Amino acid sequence: MVLDTLKHYPVLLKEIISIISPQHGGTFIDCTFGQGGYTKKILNSKNTKVIALDRDPESKKIADQIQEKFRERFIFKNLKFSELNNLKLKKEDIRGVVFDLGYSLTQIKDQKKGLSFNSFGSLNMKLGLNKFSADDVVNKLDKEDLERIFKYFGEEIESRKIAKKIVEERKINRINTQSLVNIIDTTKKRKNYKVHNATKVFQSLRIFVNNEISELIYGLINATKVLKKGGVLAVVTFHSLEDKIVKYFFKELSEEKSISRYQPKTEQRPILFLLKNKKPITPTVKELKENISSRSAKLRFVIKKDNFYDFETDILKRFQFLLDIEDLGKKLWKNP
Ligand SMILES: C[S@@+](CC[C@H](N)C(=O)[O-])C[C@H]1O[C@@H](n2cnc3c(N)ncnc32)[C@H](O)[C@@H]1O
Repeated sequence: MVLDTLKHYPVLLKEIISIISPQHGGTFIDCTFGQGGYTKKILNSKNTKVIALDRDPESKKIADQIQEKFRERFIFKNLKFSELNNLKLKKEDIRGVVFDLGYSLTQIKDQKKGLSFNSFGSLNMKLGLNKFSADDVVNKLDKEDLERIFKYFGEEIESRKIAKKIVEERKINRINTQSLVNIIDTTKKRKNYKVHNATKVFQSLRIFVNNEISELIYGLINATKVLKKGGVLAVVTFHSLEDKIVKYFFKELSEEKSISRYQPKTEQRPILFLLKNKKPITPTVKELKENISSRSAKLRFVIKKDNFYDFETDILKRFQFLLDIEDLGKKLWKNP
């Protein structure tokens, strides 16, 4: 079966459901509601409740339909998942938090959002609740800033040359999607015929415009805080940068550090998570055949143990370098 190429299909749905087991009831948080694929499947089990978030206000249309059917078992908030701690969840017993990162196919195909290099018109890339667009980034930030964004968020080897060309070109004309694609095409020497030349730069801009690094880090931190003991935290990633963050977070908080036997027992760090699979779960051949968009998906999950300690400092320190690049965005909204 080949699926409709315009519709979004929830990735690794069976695997997510088998990990969080909603058939036993309980409250779940779907941090990336999208088209409601995960939410609907959870709600199909009796005695479940879903609190769903999405930064894209357009998700509300589908959320309203689900609300009609499931009433008080479903709550939707147009919120970024980094703000999970702003929900009043004190009385809730959260059994599972799921993240299916990135964008839905519906969003990529939406010309207004300008997420793809196949879009026409101005560069946008805002998913919702943003402070600036890709147009601001490309037309206003310094050459050095652009270079860092392309290099570290896109792993673009020719970032310097591309940034230089953008700054030259924008003196003549404002850069839009098509002119950016042309600049990249004509500047890049190393062509990769399997992947579009503009893929890496466009990925880096989407990450930057949507603050994907801090969203993920604070999303994971806050999800860990709201989960109950024995609850599951499951994350589906689509690019290596986000997978690196999730892998580090889960691994660091799951494994006991090698501790000196001379160290007093009280200083030993407790383990916050139980990590069952060290390797990520990836789509089956069947899913890949049916939905090619799932090809880079990786699912990692952990189970929360009840120990708590200061785990934030460590992860913030480890990824400070990327958070500093993201902070360049402040130049655009603090002094536009
Ligand atoms: C891949 S889609 C999720 C699809 C969903 N699992 C489904 O089955 O329909 C990712 C969704 O996450 C949303 N999103 C991305 N970053 C977000 C963030 N920081 N906070 C809240 N929602 C976010 C996007 O707007 C998009 O709708």
